[in-house]
Amino acid sequence: MKQQINLTVNGDKYEVLVDPLTKLVDVLRDNLLITGTKKGCGEGECGACTVIMDGMPVSSCLILAVQADGKSIQTIEGLEDSEGKLDPIQESFINNGAIQCGYCSPGMIMVTKALLKISPHPTEAEIRDAISGNLCRCTGYQQIVDAVMAAAGKE
Ligand code: FES
Ligand code: FES
Repeated sequence: MKQQINLTVNGDKYEVLVDPLTKLVDVLRDNLLITGTKKGCGEGECGACTVIMDGMPVSSCLILAVQADGKSIQTIEGLEDSEGKLDPIQESFINNGAIQCGYCSPGMIMVTKALLKISPHPTEAEIRDAISGNLCRCTGYQQIVDAVMAAAGKE
C-alpha cells in the first residue's frame, strides 16, 4: 500500500506517493527527476548517492523514502545560486582536476559541503576522513583533497 510523504528538496516542496520500501535515491531520481544524485552500489558502500538531509550527509540509497518524510534534502542541483553560478566547491573541483568521469562528484561535493559547514578549514586528515565513505575510481583522491583544501574558507 502506497504512502504519501512530503519532502522539501532544494527548497521546493513535494508530495509523493511511495511504496514503503522505496529508497530516497529512487524517489529523487525516478519520481522527482532530480538526477544529479548518482546511484552506484545501492548498498551504502560507494557514497555516489550522498545528499544532505537536515544538515547531515547521508547515503540516500540507505534511507527509505518514508524515513525522509518531512525532511529537508539538499542535492547537487541545490548548490548553484538563482543565477546559475556554481558553488565555490564545484568551482574548486573543476579547477583542481577533481572531476574526471564525474560519477562520484555529486556525492563528493555534498560530503564536502557538509564538512566545510562544520569545519571551514579542515586538515588534510579531516578531509580524507570525511570522504572515506566515497569511492572514486579515477582520480586517486589527491585532486579531490586538493579541491576541498582550495575551497575551504570560500564558502
Ligand atoms: S549508491 Fe548509495 S552508497 Fe553506493
Ligand atoms: S571522477 Fe570518476 S569515479 Fe571519481
